[in-house]
Amino acid sequence: MFSRLVLAFSLAAVSLASPVVVRNSPVSVPLARRFQATAGRTVADIDQSRAKALQAAVSPVAQGGAGVNPIPVTNSATIYTAEVSIGSPPQTFHLIVDTGSSNTWVGADAANPYVPTSSSVNTTDIILIEYGSGLFAGLEYNDTVALGGLAITNQTIGVAQFALGGFQGVDGILGIGPAGLTKTTTASGDEIPTITDNAWALGLLDAYEVGISFEPPTNTSDANGQLTFGGVDESKFDGSITYVPITTTAPASGYVGIEQSVSYGSANVSLLETTSGIVDTGTTLIVLAADAFATYQNLTGAVPDETTGLLKITQDQYDNLESLFFNIGGQSFELTKNAQIWPRSLNAAIGGDAGSIYLIVGNIGTPSGSGLDFVNGFGFLERFYAVYDTGHSRVGLATTPFTFAETN
Ligand SMILES: *[C@@H]1O[C@H](CO)[C@@H](O)[C@H](O)[C@H]1NC(C)=O
Ligand SMILES: *[C@@H]1O[C@H](CO)[C@@H](O)[C@H](O)[C@H]1NC(C)=O
Ligand SMILES: *[C@@H]1O[C@H](CO)[C@@H](O)[C@H](O)[C@H]1NC(C)=O
Ligand SMILES: *[C@@H]1O[C@H](CO)[C@@H](O)[C@H](O)[C@H]1NC(C)=O
Ligand SMILES: *[C@@H]1O[C@H](CO)[C@@H](O)[C@H](O)[C@H]1NC(C)=O
Ligand SMILES: *[C@@H]1O[C@H](CO)[C@@H](O)[C@H](O)[C@H]1NC(C)=O
Repeated sequence: MFSRLVLAFSLAAVSLASPVVVRNSPVSVPLARRFQATAGRTVADIDQSRAKALQAAVSPVAQGGAGVNPIPVTNSATIYTAEVSIGSPPQTFHLIVDTGSSNTWVGADAANPYVPTSSSVNTTDIILIEYGSGLFAGLEYNDTVALGGLAITNQTIGVAQFALGGFQGVDGILGIGPAGLTKTTTASGDEIPTITDNAWALGLLDAYEVGISFEPPTNTSDANGQLTFGGVDESKFDGSITYVPITTTAPASGYVGIEQSVSYGSANVSLLETTSGIVDTGTTLIVLAADAFATYQNLTGAVPDETTGLLKITQDQYDNLESLFFNIGGQSFELTKNAQIWPRSLNAAIGGDAGSIYLIVGNIGTPSGSGLDFVNGFGFLERFYAVYDTGHSRVGLATTPFTFAETN
């Protein structure tokens, strides 16, 4: 009896010790939030510029467009950064997480230049990306990029020789959008796999997807974002995830694009009929086509505030404010009135008055029908969990413990 037990234990020990394929997946990476000075521009203005740039960047080749030309996050009012290390020995970089672009690059901060190490390979390919207020240019290297315990070898990264505009104390961008966005960024014209693509190709992930979690902030030092590579973090959402295919309508189809309709209040007044737009970690607000924005302004009675660029409402109007409904894949995602306002404790961060109530719905500035009629930015992502499921060309959304929170 005793010896059989010993045998059983030693067999168990042997099978535990025997080589097994250990996958790292899913791997969660914490993100740091930062509010940054917006250099004389309002948050509404910045988000509108980005939306217009995103609309223009992916134009159908059939219509004589240039194809694809990504617009990175530049000086958004809210940014989330991930810490990654590159090279051997590793060098640390803080990169803006962006689902609206797909190149990963470093060297924006001259104080932390990329130094080639034993794992660096100079591909000699030239990279050039233009964006609203400047550009960055440099060379592509292959190197080992490590984040959250994943070590991604042969990751092609851009190394800036110069970068102009908007990068205050960050090293560059971690672009996790669709790889198609990289095609026109280099001299070779090759499509550059993203870190998600390479981690999947290397067998480091169980699922070809990234889970995206943000929570509403209550102070400027509240770091509460998280990316999960290779799966979803069940602790970050409630119930089940609703999946919808990436839209086929350009230009939204080039990004993490979905179809949705937007309606308001118990009367379910339509703001936007079912149309295409994107989910974006490079946008602070929820930005809607001009006609939808005008209807929303009418329904809420809000007035434009010059200092913040946002719509402003009185306490009475707040009391009467009704929910916005994002109808996606047959599910209705409810954005409560509390979720529609800028966190009051952070009014000063955008130049607002402590006592005022600002709405986080912004205006794209062009009418619906553009093929990119909304941008669901942080205002949306702080209330709903999102999954960019590259492997199945779809996007998942779920409610979270913060969907109905009264934090603002
Ligand atoms: C990488 O290759 C390019 C093109 O050959 C060259 O100009 C550059 O100096 C190289 N970089 C390094 C660090 O050797
Ligand atoms: C760089 O890595 C990619 C894979 O991400 C590979 O296809 C390419 O051949 C590599 N280039 C060099 C010069 O090693
Ligand atoms: C990177 O890719 C190139 C081309 O496929 C290959 O020759 C090289 O061994 C790879 N390097 C690493 C570190 O995997
Ligand atoms: C900021 O908010 C977080 C999360 O609610 C909290 O843990 C932290 O103590 C707050 N920090 C300050 C300085 O208030
Ligand atoms: C509101 O209208 C939209 C279509 O515009 C529809 O998808 C949604 O189910 C409606 N919601 C309710 C609660 O009736
Ligand atoms: C806003 O309301 C006014 C008055 O009720 C109406 O005339 C106007 O058409 C409305 N505009 C929109 C965009 O709904």
